[in-house]
Amino acid sequence: MSTRILNTPTASVRVYADADELALEAARRFARLADQYVGERGRFTVALSGGSTPRGMFTILANEPFVDTVPWSSIFVFWGDERTVPPDHQESNYRMANETLLSRVRVPRENIFRIPAEGRSPDFAAAAYAESLAQTLDCSTGLPRFDLILLGMGPDGHTASLFPFTTALHVIDRICVANHVGRLQTYRITLTRVSINEARNVTFLVSGADKAEALKAVLEGPAEPYRYPSQLIRPRDGSLLWMADEAAASLLEGC
Ligand code: 6PG
Repeated sequence: MSTRILNTPTASVRVYADADELALEAARRFARLADQYVGERGRFTVALSGGSTPRGMFTILANEPFVDTVPWSSIFVFWGDERTVPPDHQESNYRMANETLLSRVRVPRENIFRIPAEGRSPDFAAAAYAESLAQTLDCSTGLPRFDLILLGMGPDGHTASLFPFTTALHVIDRICVANHVGRLQTYRITLTRVSINEARNVTFLVSGADKAEALKAVLEGPAEPYRYPSQLIRPRDGSLLWMADEAAASLLEGC
């Protein structure tokens, strides 16, 4: 395992040789946190990221040894964001996670809380999801608090569905909103910065050379959070860990 720690002014980054090592280490971290929180609190609440990066990690978790060793029956699964498509659509974040992981492990179906993004108005979907968060998660700090939120980052520095210069970036009085993304000409349902920053642990998984410029801008560039929304992610009382492969981290200089 050729891992290096790269410290930037705003965060430390664990850098792995390639996407496969990144996926394996992300799976190991998921399993460690699941064991920790199930041991401490009797359950583990996690919001999965969307896109393609987590596919490798999900596949590893669905196979030996993790398929038998992770306390799946005590895990509650959510998403950080969802596209406004049906759950069987090829663009659905739920579909990808269900096909690669959730249909292969023993998470009780009643512990899986997908974002009901299809059909209804996006605002209705966001409100319904926010209600399920409030009813299910620990809200002792006044906001729903995940044990772990997994995040990806786009080549434009977006995370979840907090895209550059979109209205959701400014929302601090709601935990989940419908966000119109002009560049994509669609709505997305997304956790807001306040609910992400309430998590006990936030982990970014970033892979690929196409993310290198954005990762450098986010971690080593000036503060431009509305241009690079991943800069908005700074947990109030939780850990922030960046995990990247060498290709994505190739432009980072560290300090
Ligand atoms: C989504 C994600 C989004 C994703 C990044 C990275 O719904 O698309 O939640 O934030 O994590 O766009 O996507 P890739 O992993 O496909 O590069």
